[in-house]
Amino acid sequence: SLRPQDYIREHIRTVPDWPAAGVQFRDITPLLQNPRVFRVLIDQFVHRYFDMRPDVVAGLDARGFIIGSVLAYELNVGFVPIRKKGKLPFTTVEETYELEYGSATVELHTDAVKPGDRVLLIDDLIATGGTMMAGKRLLEKLGATVIEGAAIVDLPELGGSAKLHAAGLPLYTLVDFE
Ligand code: PRP
Ligand code: HPA
Repeated sequence: SLRPQDYIREHIRTVPDWPAAGVQFRDITPLLQNPRVFRVLIDQFVHRYFDMRPDVVAGLDARGFIIGSVLAYELNVGFVPIRKKGKLPFTTVEETYELEYGSATVELHTDAVKPGDRVLLIDDLIATGGTMMAGKRLLEKLGATVIEGAAIVDLPELGGSAKLHAAGLPLYTLVDFE
């Protein structure tokens, strides 16, 4: 009789010192591996977005693809991938953002969304918020509106969710970790 969020939290594995010393990596693979928990997870998002009726779900490379595509299928809307640079074959728009060390660039096909589309942007986790912010900017370059950002996990101490909220992006996350 656990709350769905607690059931989900219990199936996220913490890996100490990965990918670097001092990092507590929150690993969602056990959650995906267990069919009951995977269903509870997807159902949380389906219940949230069934009435909001996004026109499209945009998923962030790579773990946003796993949950985003299933959610899009359940909502009967299309799925579009926002990919790390160099992977998409057609014409793209791109956004570069700062990482702790260096920078990253993400891309989106120019025909992925239409002006006025209401888009749900999804990933597994929000840390600094840089990835989701870049995704929002890409979608807005094409004239779409991001109605909400969604993720399984938020790491609020890293400030990403606060930054995204301050930038006018409503957020829906299921589990916080310090
Ligand atoms: C992780 C995670 C998010 C992003 C969050 O992906 O899945 O996409 O980082 O960090 P941020 O909020 O600081 O931007 P990663 O870059 O490790 O890529 P992967 O999914 O390809 O492993
Ligand atoms: N888990 C998964 N992805 C991440 C994390 C984490 O703890 N931190 C930054 N990206």
